[in-house]
Amino acid sequence: MAEQESKHYDVTMQEEECFYPPVEFIGQANCTDPSIYERFSLENFPECFKEHADLLDWDDYWHTTLDTSDAPCWKWFVGGKLNVCHNCVDRHLQQHRNKTAIYFVPELEEERIQKITYQELYRRVNETAAILRDFAGLKAGDRVTLHLPMTPELPITMLACARLGVIHSEVFSGFSGKACADRIWDSESEVLITMDAYYRSGNLIDHKSKADEAVEAADKQGQKVNKVLIWQRYPGTYNGEQSIVEGRDYFMNDLLQQYKGSEVEPVSMPAEEPLFLMYTSGSTGRPKGCVHSTGGYLAYVAWMSKYVQDIHPEDVYWCMADIGWITGHSFIVYGPLAVAGSTVIYEGVPTYPDPGRPWRVAEELGVNIFHTSPTAIRGLRKAGGDLPLQYNHQFKHMTTVGEPIEPEVWRWYYNVVGKGKAVVVDTWWMTETGGFLCSTMPAVDPMKPGSAGPGLPGIYPVVLDDEGKEIQPGENRAGNLCIRNPWPGGMQSIWKNRERYVKTYYSPYNKDPNSTDWRDWPYMAGDAAVIASDNYVRILGRVDDVLNVAGHRLGTKEIESAALTVDEVAEAAVVSVQDEVKGTVPDLYVSLKPGEEPSEDLARRISTAVSDVVGKIARPAHVYIVADMPKTRSGKIMRRILASISNRKDVGDVMTLANPHIVEEIRQQVQG
Ligand code: PRX
Repeated sequence: MAEQESKHYDVTMQEEECFYPPVEFIGQANCTDPSIYERFSLENFPECFKEHADLLDWDDYWHTTLDTSDAPCWKWFVGGKLNVCHNCVDRHLQQHRNKTAIYFVPELEEERIQKITYQELYRRVNETAAILRDFAGLKAGDRVTLHLPMTPELPITMLACARLGVIHSEVFSGFSGKACADRIWDSESEVLITMDAYYRSGNLIDHKSKADEAVEAADKQGQKVNKVLIWQRYPGTYNGEQSIVEGRDYFMNDLLQQYKGSEVEPVSMPAEEPLFLMYTSGSTGRPKGCVHSTGGYLAYVAWMSKYVQDIHPEDVYWCMADIGWITGHSFIVYGPLAVAGSTVIYEGVPTYPDPGRPWRVAEELGVNIFHTSPTAIRGLRKAGGDLPLQYNHQFKHMTTVGEPIEPEVWRWYYNVVGKGKAVVVDTWWMTETGGFLCSTMPAVDPMKPGSAGPGLPGIYPVVLDDEGKEIQPGENRAGNLCIRNPWPGGMQSIWKNRERYVKTYYSPYNKDPNSTDWRDWPYMAGDAAVIASDNYVRILGRVDDVLNVAGHRLGTKEIESAALTVDEVAEAAVVSVQDEVKGTVPDLYVSLKPGEEPSEDLARRISTAVSDVVGKIARPAHVYIVADMPKTRSGKIMRRILASISNRKDVGDVMTLANPHIVEEIRQQVQG
């Protein structure tokens, strides 16, 4: 195992009582057959995943279900060719032409909700693809960076890229220009697609200036962006603060005039070519570009949308995540559209203008499948106790994802948001995995508050200890959660960094690096977990230096490096602190260079540096300027001790430190 500060988890939580799927749900569900687990038994692996691929239209059928010759870079459905945009749009025209594909709900309640039919989506995607190909010169295999907020132009641009085989890399709109630049540089994008402005908490906020920062910063790193394509929140009106750069910046709305009615033939892509990159935080400073494939990924998310989300073409499905994260890619855009669903895109914050907003949206659109995170659930619960009961929405199905949910919060979600009539799935997965790995099958398995459920059909989770020994289900001991087998939605590699991919996820438990047998390559997720005797998996949290803030992954190193951009700062350490709503938030400890004096102004500048460099979601809850960091004799900062202080827990034995006295000094400073 890689060297890391070892973590110990108490597994003293009690077993929770199960809930059973409502009969009304079972009566209409896409999968009600308990023998599904047998169909997906390990003896039937990997051929069982043919069922996933058969949900798609293929231009050429594949000859090899799983090719392991380049293990652990798995290739699925080899020999097959398909186009993702055709599968999400074109093929639905015959039956669902006039059905709403996308509902766009602007944050301002007085603004009209837009309904985009499959026919209109087809037209808009084609015109956009024509611009990307004929004006921007993009072709299959090129990378393009998107820094787009939550409006329909984001999925339209993604689908236009997919139509051409262009690899998109969407950067969450809340991330800074600098964070966007790092991703432009890593993916070598020559084109950036952005929007002038969008709504957040009732304000139309400028977004275009982030593009200027990104292009400038990427240029300094050696990556030149030739074209910035700008969607307008209000087509024809420019709401950005910065002026347009002649010869570089172009309004999509102007370009569209020349490409009206254009049709672009979908490019038939090999199944194992990349569809998109999604950057995520790891334990070193540089974000990892997870490479997701065309055929395996789409097959996987389509199956999950049909059988785990239970989306039927007549349902209205609302996933309240942001498309800038993997949840949005897989479960707002690609999965739901692949199965001809109607997917809702909401622009803003769930509690704007008040915490009744989600339930009004659900009522108005007849949303019957709802998908959100524990952070949003906790926030809505805190803001308005039984408010959802006052609205007439009725969900058949609800999802929670992204962080562990407290059983108490789960029960509020079930009883108050779902009114006791909706089935709940707690889906555990990661950016790297493309789609869900652990969850109950909603019409088959009972629900257990606080547990994600067993491995989904065809997924074999196992908990290993640091020596690689299996911890048996029911032993009540925590270990490293791994998956024994590959699956079609899994990332193919880290962009331009196969070595880091192998080292991070597969080396820890691999005994023979030359093996091409998948059994020799368990995937290590980076989460600690316990598996109960019924095989339900309870996630305890990350084992690496990754924070989970409001369900979003942030690397400690990214935040610490940002703090170090402030001249006075000598050392920085980030720890995660329990928070009632967000699950965890970062606290930042810094020590200063000799001769520098702490001040409130300096603490504020450090905090601002973090939100400027990484993004607002990374802003520390507190910045503590301390006289020195607690360190081991070899000079390693003991984040564990700082975390105990922030969380008001016992710091344990500190006498082996190089500077034990500092611990009490920091404790007093923080706790008073
Ligand atoms: O720690 C796990 C937590 O989120 C991490 C993955 O984060 P990210 O790549 O941003 O993807 C989030 C959306 C899939 C995991 O390593 N996590 C995810 N789902 C759950 C969870 N923790 C507990 N329960 C879940 N259902």
